[in-house]
Parts: sequence; structure tokens; C-alpha cells
Amino acid sequence: MTERFDGHVVLVTGSATGIGEATALRFASEGAAVACLDVHVKENEATAEAVAALGVDALALTCDVRSRAAQEQAFATVVEQWGRIDTLVTSAGIYVGGPLTEIPAERWDDIVAVNLTGVLTSNSLAAPTMAAQGRGSIINISSMAAKTSWPESAEYSATKSGVIGITRSAAMELGPSGITVNAVCPGNTLTAMVKEVANEVGERLGMTGAEWLDMRAADTAVRRLADPAEIAGVIAFLASDDARYLTGQAIEVDGGIILT
Ligand SMILES: NC(=O)c1ccc[n+]([C@@H]2O[C@H](COP(=O)([O-])OP(=O)(O)OC[C@H]3O[C@@H](n4cnc5c(N)ncnc54)[C@H](O)[C@@H]3O)[C@@H](O)[C@H]2O)c1
Repeated sequence: MTERFDGHVVLVTGSATGIGEATALRFASEGAAVACLDVHVKENEATAEAVAALGVDALALTCDVRSRAAQEQAFATVVEQWGRIDTLVTSAGIYVGGPLTEIPAERWDDIVAVNLTGVLTSNSLAAPTMAAQGRGSIINISSMAAKTSWPESAEYSATKSGVIGITRSAAMELGPSGITVNAVCPGNTLTAMVKEVANEVGERLGMTGAEWLDMRAADTAVRRLADPAEIAGVIAFLASDDARYLTGQAIEVDGGIILT
């Protein structure tokens, strides 16, 4: 049987865990060769092994997205091995939070380096290969933190809003070359990151992490948090033939939390 992504090459950053891992597995389950790129070696190798176990080609690339040189090497390896990049998903990201008056300069520099510079670099490195092919899809992972407002998350919100800016400009610039560029804005999704956030924010609000997650779920229309696979499904749609006329969008995959 023909699969939706047979013959496709997909590069996922932040593939070791969470949404990136679920995305790598989703594309693999539909026939794509997947390059898994992450700074965490063991977990990322485990993702690549799980991809290969689905019967497709897999690459595990150890790379810190803060380093342009490291990303250049990783992208070059994918092109050397497989000759193309059809889809790029930029899921590598970190969360930090706290009062506006207590933001250490190094913390700001670090979140900008990962969430913003890292994404910009990945987009700029995928674009020439996709343009030469005359076709490609870039899906950047933003956040509902770019669409709604919460206290004590200025750094995260700023970087995730910036990801939408990169996405819109790149969509205009790369559209004539047959490349679509979209952002996905997940609501709270059950990954290691959200559990960490829950514990940290919960403590500040005088509640447990579990209580904070219950509160977030109660704020959605569907009264639950997302499974990473549900975000991966939307990402796969954006890379599919059905989404070729969809570009420059920042899609809310949030269970309706924006409505409250
Ligand atoms: N979980 C949520 O509720 C949620 C909501 C909105 C947006 N997001 C975004 O989704 C993306 C994935 O987050 P997640 O929830 O799956 O968290 P996660 O922590 O499970 O995944 C993030 C991945 O990025 C990798 N990473 C971090 N810094 C890196 C670096 N410098 N170089 C390379 N890789 C690096 C980590 O090793 C990890 O595998 C992030 O960009 C996050 O901001 C998550």
C-alpha cells in the first residue's frame, strides 16, 4: 500500500522527546525517512531506533541548535545521505519563566538562542535545498503563549511570537520557490516540558503541578490537555499534499483554550 509520505525526507529538531518525538514517529509511520536532531544523545538515538523499527530509514544527529556550525553539519549530513529535505519541523525548544523584574541576562540570551536563533537557522539551512527541489514544507513550533497572555512568561512569549514572525516572512520569501511555511501553536500538551512548567508555576501559585494541569485542562473547550500525537497529526497534515495552498499561518491546536 502507498503511504502518504513514501519517498519523503523529514528533518525534525527536538526529536528526542515530546512533540518532536511524536512527530518523527508519525512521519515514519506514513513512510518517510526521518532525520532526528537533538542535543540529548541517548533519548534521540532511542527515537531514531523507534523510527527505524517502523521500517523506514532513520538518522540520529547530535546537534545543539544554538550553534550554526553544528546545524550546518547536521543538515549537510542529511543532504549527503538522502539528497533532499522535503519537510522541516522545528520542535527544539525550552521554557523558562518568572517575574519580569527578575530575568537574568544569561537566561534571556539562552532562550533566544534556542527558541529563536535556533529556529531561524534551521529555516535558513533547509530553504536552499527545498528551493532547488522546487518544493518543501517548513513547520515551526510556536505556542499558544504567542497568542494569549499569561503573567511571568515574557521571555517564552517573546520567543514564540518571534517564531510566528519568522514563519510569516519566510512564507512570503520562499513561496515563489514552492515552499510553504507555517507555525503550529500547541496549547498545553502532556510532555516532560509541560510537567516541569506545571511544577514550577504551580509552586509560585501555591498549588501542586497536578492541580495546575487540572486548572489548565478546565480552561479548554474539550476539558483535557493534548497528547503529543495530536499535535503531530496537524504537523503531518501541513506537510501533506492537502495543505499546499496553506502558508504563513499560525495554527492554534489548543483544545479551544483561546475561547475562554
Ligand atoms: N508541551 C507543551 O505544552 C507545549 C506547548 C506549546 C509549545 N510547545 C513547544 O513545543 C516544542 C516541543 O516541546 P515539548 O513539549 O515536546 O518539550 P520537550 O522538552 O519534550 O522537547 C523539547 C526537545 O527539544 C530539545 N532541545 C532543547 N534544547 C535544545 C538545543 N539547544 N538543541 C537541540 N535540541 C534541544 C530537547 O532535548 C527536547 O528533546 C517546544 O518548542 C515547545 O516550546 C510545547
